[in-house]
Amino acid sequence: MAEKMEFPAGTTPSGVAGRHIVLGLSGGIACYKAAEFCRALIKAGATVQVVMTPSAAEFITPVTMQALSGRAVFISQWDDRTAGGVDNNMAHINLSREADAIVVAPASADFMAKLLHGRADELLSLMCLARPIERVPLILAPAMNREMWTHPATQRNVAQLRADGAHVLGVDAGAQACGEVGDGRMLEPDALLEAVDAFFYDKSLAGRHVLITAGPTVEAIDPVRVLTNRSSGKMGFALASAAARAGARVTLVTGPVALATPSGVQRVDVSSAADMFAAVQADVHDAHVFIACAAVADWTPATPAAQKLKKDGSGEPPALRFVETVDILATVAASARAQSGDLYCVGFAAESHDLERHAQAKRERKNVPLLVGNIGPATFGQDDNALLLVTAQGTEEMPLASKKALAHALIKRIAQAI
Ligand code: C5P
Repeated sequence: MAEKMEFPAGTTPSGVAGRHIVLGLSGGIACYKAAEFCRALIKAGATVQVVMTPSAAEFITPVTMQALSGRAVFISQWDDRTAGGVDNNMAHINLSREADAIVVAPASADFMAKLLHGRADELLSLMCLARPIERVPLILAPAMNREMWTHPATQRNVAQLRADGAHVLGVDAGAQACGEVGDGRMLEPDALLEAVDAFFYDKSLAGRHVLITAGPTVEAIDPVRVLTNRSSGKMGFALASAAARAGARVTLVTGPVALATPSGVQRVDVSSAADMFAAVQADVHDAHVFIACAAVADWTPATPAAQKLKKDGSGEPPALRFVETVDILATVAASARAQSGDLYCVGFAAESHDLERHAQAKRERKNVPLLVGNIGPATFGQDDNALLLVTAQGTEEMPLASKKALAHALIKRIAQAI
């Protein structure tokens, strides 16, 4: 059963969720990755119809792909089973008409050469040729040996396929099944999903630079002990991923978190509030949006001890003196570019109670056009959240949904606002 992504009320779903993908496999050892990719598509909420070339069926069985996709697999143009609910023995027409996209993964060198010439001697190439070109995009994930990939014929074919409107994804570098090392491996299933998912988003932030802070900060007490907080970074990372999918150049300044960098995002790892401020200052000059999602320490030990603080037997704990950290958001929001409207600043408020009152007060104090409130203890480390958007015009609720879905909804709002 597909896990569907929950979207906040009034927002439209994007990405592969709810889409029907025809997943084509041509012959290559990377077919084993297509099995995992098929599962990932379904997990992300897509439905998948697998079509294989006879060569692909030499590498992985249709039974495997049928079990993973939950649908009968088509291989032959002479297959007379009902396809796409129609009984006319024209699988190449019927299967392509119901697709939101055809994704060929792996796309072998030979298969791409065939597509280029409009050849159609088996079902998959026939279906690619017969697809309504304006309505059904063709996405190709090349997979081949490094010599085959760099061969002028292949590079010429890739360029021409792009010119003909196909979306040819990149390849991975590294060890190849043949024992050689270089470019040409098919992207890993996770990266493939990211790329195909990103394809279905509006590029509403194209040409924009979005700078985001995320995660906790860590303030040293002595060389061993630190002061930190429970922020997982999930919301900030989800925002970075959503902004990248919306076409923005994204810089993500993050405290220590156990999260993978979203694809297409430039990550800057920092530790203390002071480090985070310095990293933001280094990158904010050409940003169009600044989203302060990090849980930044408000105070830091005035002078971290050079050596580990020891118990002295008196029973008295050491007296720690704190100084306030720089308010990164307020400082950026007070800059000339923010004041002139060239830089749109968004703050977050994690409160424990009385969310609306505190969030509105915080928005005014920090002088930002948008402040996003949430209940901290309810959301730290969780995959879900509920948000309260506070602007000068009033408030808007985004009820409980996945952080991923909320991030997309929020990025859409920000894109509209700028
Ligand atoms: O004042 P408070 O910490 O509650 O404000 C939260 C908002 O301000 C968040 O957007 C947070 O990222 C930002 N902030 C900051 N620098 C600080 C403290 C908070 O950017 N030193």
